Amino acid sequence: MRHAICYVSNKNKEISDFQIQELLEESASNNILSGIKGVLLYSEGNFFQIIEGEKVFILSLFETIRQDAGHHGIIQIVGRDVEQDAFDGYKTDILSGDMKYQTSIPKEYTDTLEGLPWDLKKIMERMMGTFIDTH
Ligand SMILES: Cc1cc2nc3c(=O)[nH]c(=O)nc-3n(C[C@H](O)[C@H](O)[C@H](O)COP(=O)(O)O)c2cc1C
Repeated sequence: MRHAICYVSNKNKEISDFQIQELLEESASNNILSGIKGVLLYSEGNFFQIIEGEKVFILSLFETIRQDAGHHGIIQIVGRDVEQDAFDGYKTDILSGDMKYQTSIPKEYTDTLEGLPWDLKKIMERMMGTFIDTH
C-alpha cells in the first residue's frame, strides 16, 4: 500500500541558507534510494513537502521529519493511501523572490503530481499554488 503526506512548516531561525541547501540535497538522495517520491520546496522561511511511497516508509519518515529540529509548526494537509506509483519522481527547490507571485505553478512542479487521482491532484495543486503564491 502506498501513502501520500503533504504538509507545510516553518524553518527554525538558526538554520542557515547553506543548511537548507544541504537538507534539500540529503532528502533528495535519501528519497531516491528509498523509492520515495514527491516534492520539497522552501520559500521565505517555510517548507512545503509532499512525500509518497510505501506506507510503512512514509509514516516512519514523517515521524523522523516531525522530530527534526530544523523546523516547527508542522501543519499536515493530506495523509492518504494512494494508487501504486502515483507520483513522478522527487523534486526539491528553493524558490527565489522572483518565482513568487507568478501566474501559474511551474510545470516541473505540477508534473510530479501527474499520476494522482484527480481530487487529490486538485488539492495538492491548490496547496502548492498557495505556497508559491500564484494568482
Ligand atoms: C522540512 C524537512 C523535510 C525533510 N524531508 C526529508 C525527506 O524527504 N527525506 C529524508 O530522508 N529526510 C528528510 N528530512 C531530514 C530528516 O528529518 C532527517 O534529518 C534525515 O532523514 C536524516 O536522518 P538520520 O540522521 O536519522 O539518518 C527533512 C527535514 C526537514 C526539516
